[in-house]
Amino acid sequence: VPASSKVVRDERFATLDDQDIKHFSGIVGSKGLVVDKDELEVANTDWMRKFKGSAQLLLRPQSSNQVAEILKYSSSRRIAVVPQGGNTGLVGGSVPVFDEVIVNLGAMNSIISFDEVSGILICEAGCILETLDKFLADKGFMFPLDLGAKGSCQIGGNVSTNAGGLRLIRYGSLHGNILGLEVVLSDGTILDMLSSLRKDNTGYDLKQLFIAGAEGTLGVVTKVAVLTPQKLPSVNVGFLACTDYTSCQKMLLEARKHLGEVLSAFEFIDSFALDMVLKHSGDRHPLPDAKEKFYLLIETTGSNQSHDKEKLDNFVETVLTQGLVVDGTIAQDNTQISNFWHIREAWFLQLPPLGKAGAVYKYDLSIPIKDLYNLVEILRERLATVVAYGHLGDGNLHLNISAPDYDEKASFFFQLLAKIEPFVYEWTAAHKGSVSAEHGLGFMKAHAIHYSRSPETVELMRKMKAMLDPNGILNPYKVIA
Ligand code: FAD
Ligand code: MLT
Ligand code: ZN
Repeated sequence: VPASSKVVRDERFATLDDQDIKHFSGIVGSKGLVVDKDELEVANTDWMRKFKGSAQLLLRPQSSNQVAEILKYSSSRRIAVVPQGGNTGLVGGSVPVFDEVIVNLGAMNSIISFDEVSGILICEAGCILETLDKFLADKGFMFPLDLGAKGSCQIGGNVSTNAGGLRLIRYGSLHGNILGLEVVLSDGTILDMLSSLRKDNTGYDLKQLFIAGAEGTLGVVTKVAVLTPQKLPSVNVGFLACTDYTSCQKMLLEARKHLGEVLSAFEFIDSFALDMVLKHSGDRHPLPDAKEKFYLLIETTGSNQSHDKEKLDNFVETVLTQGLVVDGTIAQDNTQISNFWHIREAWFLQLPPLGKAGAVYKYDLSIPIKDLYNLVEILRERLATVVAYGHLGDGNLHLNISAPDYDEKASFFFQLLAKIEPFVYEWTAAHKGSVSAEHGLGFMKAHAIHYSRSPETVELMRKMKAMLDPNGILNPYKVIA
């Protein structure tokens, strides 16, 4: 039985009444209060169209003070709330499970400051990632995170899920790049941790609690200070074919050895998955004659084109000589570079049957690189349509399994799920992996936390949650439900 169908509404939470709506209206004004059915339908439904709540109220605060007033009142009345950013999360964390009030940060989208010497950007949590990246690009900088959802996801959502994305291998986890946060706690306290210092070892680094793992269950992130790197002019992208998974692993080693500091992405997909997404997206195969089983997209980013190109050429020559790569192409211009990246983003966006009616069951796993592909092979013996790709450089596998729809009452669903869960989680735990590499636990995997965290650790998390959110109003039923 799917864990989600066992969840029942916690009756300790209040049901909204007219007095509550009036009170919230007094805080956010008419433009920040949404009761329109169509707008609520959108905000209640997650990006995958898999999780759907029944919130009757959506609030769009315009300041940290308004967020504080909303939470203070909600705590006093025990009204459950769901913090929401761009609603691009993939684990059902950003939408209500029942009738929780949605607090969307989208109206808090100001850039507060940018220091060109230090590269430190301070902004409100509702800023859209792509908008921030464009703002920085004009100043010769870039955001140290990039992902397919950049046009919609918000920095507050990115922080709250510690999004990984396409260039973690180069710029590291957001944990390291976020220098400061402002967070509103459930009782309305505004916690100013908006330090913009590179070094600040003053007591516990409390902001880290709200970066990843929290997913809106401990507080609402309202402001962010982030360290941004220079945007470098020389970018090269190669699309290379390998016959076996061992060669892919050796390629990573060689890439680190030869490309070192300029290596900025190392993504992989197998031929089954690539054929499937290309058929669906209509994109041209970058290596139309290749018959190999694995493909790698490798990117370098540096400051000197001829120097970087020379490095890449040496790398390609070495891996060809060693027989690690049997076919490949290097993008010749910016158009080809974007075409290659377009294909990479299609691995998910064009995954059948997304964009049409239908469902995709997604698993986002960290697994030691040497074992990572074994899981795909084992799972393919159970299910024909396993689409596998991921951020190989980070040991992060994305497994996608298509189904006709998300009808959890249908018999196909139980048959399908029985072939995947708990097997995938057990296998991952047995190989010392993590059941959530970058997407978080949200609602989908709240029941699976024990596969990757010890009982003592989960218990400490519960105590922290109880301390920071004693009435449990922040994103209930998620993460440590
Ligand atoms: P939402 O989806 O709105 O929320 C996500 C979680 O954060 C929820 O639990 C929500 O309650 C909480 N939250 C949101 N804002 C706040 C806030 N201000 N304060 C407190 N809690 C908050 N993820 C990756 O890691 N790597 C990828 O490569 C990647 N690629 C993606 C590609 C596509 C096409 C899509 C649709 C998604 C992808 N994702 C990826 C998942 C998703 O985009 C990221 O998790 C993203 O960081 C979520 O940001 P958001 O603003 O949409 O947050
Ligand atoms: C990606 O790497 O494209 C994202 O994490 C989304 C996915 O799971 O495919
Ligand atoms: Zn990913």
